[in-house]
Amino acid sequence: MSKNSQSESKEPLKDDLSDPSRRDFLTLTACAVGAVGAGAAALPFINSMNPAADVMALASVDIDIKGIQPGHSKTVVWRGKPIFIRHRTEEEIKAANETSLKILPDPQTDQERFAKDPKWLVVIGVCTHLGCIPNEQKDIGHGLHEGGWLCPCHGSVYDISGRIISGPAPKNLEVPPYQFINNGSAIRIG
Ligand code: FES
Repeated sequence: MSKNSQSESKEPLKDDLSDPSRRDFLTLTACAVGAVGAGAAALPFINSMNPAADVMALASVDIDIKGIQPGHSKTVVWRGKPIFIRHRTEEEIKAANETSLKILPDPQTDQERFAKDPKWLVVIGVCTHLGCIPNEQKDIGHGLHEGGWLCPCHGSVYDISGRIISGPAPKNLEVPPYQFINNGSAIRIG
């Protein structure tokens, strides 16, 4: 054995794991790599749970209502559903308030529904029977001559407050969450 090789054999091995500091370093490195790997693998899954950008964009919609004259309506889409917005006349508001709760299958005052501003009706335009889209009517009959909505599918009739009057629908047209914005010149739905 050469002199050289004797001196080499006394050197500590480079891969000697009996060195505590080296062993700790390797353990930490392995954990860190594992954590990064696990994080990278989980990222697509976590991202898949976030709402898509286009869904977020539709979470609320702002509708300019300046141009809607009294007695006129506008239909917009919010989260894939039609929303009826109607600028009601004084006569329509009066008629809605005069309707007896006794004739309503789903009793609710007009004030409860549109306390924010009774001039503006905002409802989800989906019949509560089987989900058809009701049509606006000038005269829905039943002695209620201030308009409302008739569902063509099975004949449910809703008054000028969107409340069910007759037909198989069990509930009033739903009022979505909404607020007035821009000094009352627009409505934010959602
Ligand atoms: S879906 Fe409207 S009456 Fe049946």
